[in-house]
Amino acid sequence: MPDTTRRHGALIYRQRVLTRLTHWTWAVSLFFLMLTGLQIFNAHPVLYLGNESGFGYDNAILRIDAVETAAGLRGVTTLGGLEFDTTGALGVSGDDDVRAFPAWATIPSTQSLATGRVIHFFFAWLLVGTLAIWATASLINGHLRDLIPTLADLKSLPRDMAAHARLRFHHTARYNVLQKLAYAGVLFVLLPLMILTGLSMSPSFNATAPWLLDIFGGRQTARTIHFAVMVLLVGFFLIHMAMILAAGPLNELRSIITGWYRVDPEGGPRHDA
Ligand code: HEM
Repeated sequence: MPDTTRRHGALIYRQRVLTRLTHWTWAVSLFFLMLTGLQIFNAHPVLYLGNESGFGYDNAILRIDAVETAAGLRGVTTLGGLEFDTTGALGVSGDDDVRAFPAWATIPSTQSLATGRVIHFFFAWLLVGTLAIWATASLINGHLRDLIPTLADLKSLPRDMAAHARLRFHHTARYNVLQKLAYAGVLFVLLPLMILTGLSMSPSFNATAPWLLDIFGGRQTARTIHFAVMVLLVGFFLIHMAMILAAGPLNELRSIITGWYRVDPEGGPRHDA
């Protein structure tokens, strides 16, 4: 057989079956969690800081309204003290549909808080279970070490950032430092924060662990952090997709679906991927 590894690089087994299964479970879970979360948010489209909410308090930091004007219904989003006309996207969308997030961005697409909550809690527990299985298995099989940057990794950070900026990717058996930081940020910071702020909004959990609400500075702050983490996860997702497209989507997808990944040929990176 001709030796093609010099030209194409070798195919290596990079992602374990559990890494792949958990990855796709949380990708699907986060999709449903986000769209049902926006449905729940639409029932009261205001975010506050502290414990109090409603009229008579001046602690709202984000508000999505529909306002009747001489020119017709307008969607108005207020962030901090700043007002934005968001007609067509937020507040008023479609055929003068008065709702904070538009129908296409919520599950179900019609307004139904009860259905949104049932689906949201189902996928929230699925995510918690998947993360617990991933963390236990990764501790046992050593995968956690693949995600924690070493000192040498951190030293190579400026070089790696420069290479990414020039869209020069090295296809190796290990994650590069930017991947490690991004994945560890999602798995060790954002998802746990999402779960803890979610739990602290549950009245029955408040009875069991009232200290959790104190840590987050009150129910409304917990809700605001929950929303902000969702926005950060959307940001991660967009960058994740852009990086996969730039690094060679076929090779990257094969790796996260089948586990097999083609590394750079000996002697240098491929520039075709
Ligand atoms: C919100 C959704 C998603 C999240 C939170 C997410 C998060 C992650 C995380 C944390 C890893 C590292 C997993 C580990 O090693 O244990 C990873 C790897 C990966 N993900 Fe995602 N992901 C999401 C969606 C997707 C989608 C939709 C695709 C494909 C279209 C994708 C493709 C990949 C690939 C190819 C890798 C492996 C990268 C490599 O080995 O270089 N991800 N993702």
